[in-house]
Amino acid sequence: MKIIRAKDYQDLSRKAGQIIASLVTLKPDCVLGLATGSTPIGTYKYLIEQYNNGDLDFSQVSSVNLDEYKGLPRTHDQSYYYFMHENLFDKVNIDLANTNLPDGMEPDSDKACADYDAVIESMGGVDLQLLGLGHNGHIGFNEPSDQFKKGTHCVTLSQRTIEANTRFFASEADVPRQAYTMGIGNIMNAKKVLLVVSGADKAEAVKNCFFGPITPQWQASILQLHKDVVIVADEAALSLV
Ligand code: GLP
Repeated sequence: MKIIRAKDYQDLSRKAGQIIASLVTLKPDCVLGLATGSTPIGTYKYLIEQYNNGDLDFSQVSSVNLDEYKGLPRTHDQSYYYFMHENLFDKVNIDLANTNLPDGMEPDSDKACADYDAVIESMGGVDLQLLGLGHNGHIGFNEPSDQFKKGTHCVTLSQRTIEANTRFFASEADVPRQAYTMGIGNIMNAKKVLLVVSGADKAEAVKNCFFGPITPQWQASILQLHKDVVIVADEAALSLV
């Protein structure tokens, strides 16, 4: 596990963006595993800047996102589909036919999850999986639990995650209670993992996930077993280690 210390959020975003940009340059038809949440927004901004400068070409890139709320239509401004279009897809030349998210409007969870695992499988492996980190150590929406889940599954969000995500909705009651998420097995299958984490409010999660025992109570701790993980963290996020 490699930890890159960034000065602040801007520095973190540039460093993480450079890692993704170098992959896209070296392997123009790479498969990117993408993430939502506020942390990767700066990384996406960096990539958009590089694209606008003529330094990056996404035309052959394909992507697969970690997760999606269950029951939110794509047109809802808090759906992860909407987020990805707003923050990346509509601003670079990625072929939208090659972008993938779980279908949050599929009411049959088993079908939604099996379909998404089939999509991931058909892509022949994720070259780089970008991750944020929840306050409780979740990655994607893999919440603290007594087990690590292998494939895409439907989760009931923890109270802590609902509270953290309330800031994006009109009220707590509007936050969806369930989501479809890639499993830990899907994430661990990526050739490279890039986790971005920022802010003092994530310091406890960083300490428990990367400097403590591997436990499903801190789901990201499993990344200690991945052979190619880069964590780009700012000083505030590293303040307890
Ligand atoms: C959300 C997402 C995660 C994200 C996390 C942290 O619930 N499902 O993929 O990493 O929360 O988000 P943020 O970066 O906004 O703190």
